[in-house]
Amino acid sequence: MIKVKILGICGSLRHGNSEFLLKKSLEAAKSVAPEYVETEFYTLAGKTIYTCDFCLLCLEYKDCMVKDDFHELKEKWLEADGIIYSIPVYHLGMPANLKAFIDRLGQTVYGSSGDVPPKFMKVIGVIAQGTDLGGGAELTMIQAITHALVMGSIPIAGDGPESYIGAYGWTKRSWFTDSFERLLEQKDFDAETTLRAAESLGRRVAYLSLIVKNGAHLLKDLLKKDPKYNWYLSKIENDVKKK
Ligand SMILES: Cc1cc2nc3c(=O)[nH]c(=O)nc-3n(C[C@H](O)[C@H](O)[C@H](O)COP(=O)(O)O)c2cc1C
Repeated sequence: MIKVKILGICGSLRHGNSEFLLKKSLEAAKSVAPEYVETEFYTLAGKTIYTCDFCLLCLEYKDCMVKDDFHELKEKWLEADGIIYSIPVYHLGMPANLKAFIDRLGQTVYGSSGDVPPKFMKVIGVIAQGTDLGGGAELTMIQAITHALVMGSIPIAGDGPESYIGAYGWTKRSWFTDSFERLLEQKDFDAETTLRAAESLGRRVAYLSLIVKNGAHLLKDLLKKDPKYNWYLSKIENDVKKK
């Protein structure tokens, strides 16, 4: 079996609830098959990612020319087989830093592929939480899910009934960095539901990443007929060589 790498991207600018839930989700992903599932945690806390200024230099240079932490995360994104975004809700959507990363990632790959981006085939799961019930967690998840689709990737949920489209939750109006941990200590039903959703999401991302990567390897002769899969097939080949 070919190994997979699951990258957890924490969209919070602090070490708080998004980070806590993401680490639990990654632990669950690893537990699926510890020898075949590698996990990595990455946080935007302390990182600088400028917004896309539409300079279009990516068309010429096939990469984004703005020098900041975008490049480190872009390499990790491209290398991963599965991605779990953990996003704090800001004004009913994702924080600007994460949006800036996604804007520049999309622009760079579309720009450098002549508007015909490859099928990246990442399995993508989303966790989102905010202080308020109905405060925009589902809207934020949908924004990340549509990003998965446009990046030729595969959005996935955890298990029902907790995880309809990913894992979402609220901190019951508390702003602490450890609001979820406090609620879990009190055996709060909503927080326990969010945690279970984050864990089942992690497991599903791991399983589907293994299925997609190993399945594509088995079907490589078929997929070679469609140039949209070239990028993905050479990634798998490189990963197999690295083993
Ligand atoms: C600028 C800003 C905007 C926010 N907007 C929302 C919002 O629209 N809806 C909501 O439920 N929570 C909102 N929040 C609260 C955070 O989503 C919430 O505190 C979350 O638990 C923070 O996650 P973290 O601990 O991972 O940073 C906002 C927080 C900030 C700083």
